[in-house]
Amino acid sequence: MNIQGKTAIVTGGASGLGLATVEQLIQKGANVAVLDRDIKNFHDIQERLGKDNLETIETDVTNEESVKYAVNLAYQRFGSIDICVNCAGIAIGVKTYGSKGVFPLEYYKKVIDVNLVGTFNVLSRAVEQMVKNEREDSQERGVIVNTSSGAAYDGQMGQAAYSASKAGIAGMTLPIARDLSNYGIRINAIAPGLFKTPMAGGITEDILEGIKAQMEYPKRLGEASEFASLVVHMIENTYLNGEVIRLDGATRLPPR
Ligand SMILES: NC(=O)c1ccc[n+]([C@@H]2O[C@H](COP(=O)([O-])OP(=O)(O)OC[C@H]3O[C@@H](n4cnc5c(N)ncnc54)[C@H](O)[C@@H]3O)[C@@H](O)[C@H]2O)c1
Repeated sequence: MNIQGKTAIVTGGASGLGLATVEQLIQKGANVAVLDRDIKNFHDIQERLGKDNLETIETDVTNEESVKYAVNLAYQRFGSIDICVNCAGIAIGVKTYGSKGVFPLEYYKKVIDVNLVGTFNVLSRAVEQMVKNEREDSQERGVIVNTSSGAAYDGQMGQAAYSASKAGIAGMTLPIARDLSNYGIRINAIAPGLFKTPMAGGITEDILEGIKAQMEYPKRLGEASEFASLVVHMIENTYLNGEVIRLDGATRLPPR
């Protein structure tokens, strides 16, 4: 899909990987709706990227009404939804059983709700608009890019809920590609390793040095712009569908 002039919704677009994606999509000439629960960066993002091709919408991806409202608003503002990038996510690390007892079920459900159910909630509402897209030059009606994680495959201690949510995102990629193939809508997912974003901000220098020592090449955290470049490629490469791509410099994180 040619990005120029198309409309993208980006969840988690106010921070980290989502924000870098918003920046690259705007540079490529897209209209972008930023859907995020946290509105504190909205003003700065508008100041920096301009309001002409950008809409910021306070949204909770776990809430059906909130997502319906946001997707409809983006559709009304820009006239179509062509691209849906899901980056909204949370990471709560608790061991299955530890000194404080069992992993509180409430936290477990919360992680699954935001990361997995929230992703499906948004993409299904985006698809509802994408199916309306009819273009003379292309059969393609839409592209979805979801954010899984290396933890889908090599979860560390304390990541039972997070890994399950991200494995769910990886696992639903192919069946959704199959569900949507008749409509000309593609879906892919990225499974990032460790990236330099506020989510990774809690990792102490000592732990970081330990992780870097076990990395292959390059021995560093990923840059959010490197994630965004792969999102752009997944949108532009029409033959890429139903795939999960690891973006981690061949790093496999150890148990802790
Ligand atoms: N940073 C990493 O190392 C890394 C690695 C693998 C996967 N990921 C995944 O990448 C995605 C982006 O992470 P990031 O590193 O940019 O983190 P981040 O914390 O910078 O951004 C996440 C964004 O999601 C938003 N969000 C959280 N819950 C929401 C909700 N219910 N509704 C709407 N928005 C919500 C937050 O407000 C925030 O703006 C996440 O899904 C994360 O799990 C990150």
